[in-house]
Amino acid sequence: MLDLQEKRDVSILCEFHNGSDKHGIASEISRIFEIPDADEIDISELYLLHKNFGVSNYTYEGTSLLEAREIFHAISLAEDDIFLDIGAGYGAIVLYGAAIFPAAFIAVEAVRKRADHIERVSGQLGMRNLHVRHQGAEVTDLATASHVFLNNPFLGSYAKDYVYRLAREIKKECAVIALNNIVAEFRESPLFSELETSANIPNYRFGLFVPA
Ligand SMILES: C[S@@+](CC[C@H](N)C(=O)[O-])C[C@H]1O[C@@H](n2cnc3c(N)ncnc32)[C@H](O)[C@@H]1O
Repeated sequence: MLDLQEKRDVSILCEFHNGSDKHGIASEISRIFEIPDADEIDISELYLLHKNFGVSNYTYEGTSLLEAREIFHAISLAEDDIFLDIGAGYGAIVLYGAAIFPAAFIAVEAVRKRADHIERVSGQLGMRNLHVRHQGAEVTDLATASHVFLNNPFLGSYAKDYVYRLAREIKKECAVIALNNIVAEFRESPLFSELETSANIPNYRFGLFVPA
């Protein structure tokens, strides 16, 4: 959990998490987290990413803070939980979560400048429960996670293969939170069951799953 009792950053995030939609509050939090609106990867970097980490989706389209709030209202996280964001981007989900909950958060991100960003911002904010791994999803240990979050990090058959891998390697109590195209892969898989959720995010692009 964020060790920032004296800083206004916590109070503004708590206020937001508790339901405030005060004008500009989400943009103020994005500013604190230094989340860019967009990000480009040039062709030579993309070539290296494909070579080093495999052909997957290195486009950055982060979860909005409003969606993050919906997600964190729909799940409960305790101190001994481990929340893994596979393809953490600039950290919208993990920075939010680590500021609010006492659980451990792990950000896995293949693009170095994004992993470095999360490391730097979480350091500035004094977060001790957020750990950053600049690595590919394929080498990430999944066995200890209580929650795995995936906002569309993969393309095509890679996504399908990763759903199989998750089913093989996660604990049977682990919840998988899926956003965007990858939701369809979990819905089609006989290896996962979908849970009802209170999150106000369109059903076609959001789902909460557990091993079947
Ligand atoms: C759509 S963004 C989601 C970012 C973040 N999870 C969020 O919701 O705000 C997907 C991220 O996955 C990362 N990614 C794609 N393939 C990956 C891989 N094989 N290993 C680790 N990260 C990967 C991309 O670089 C990108 O930052």
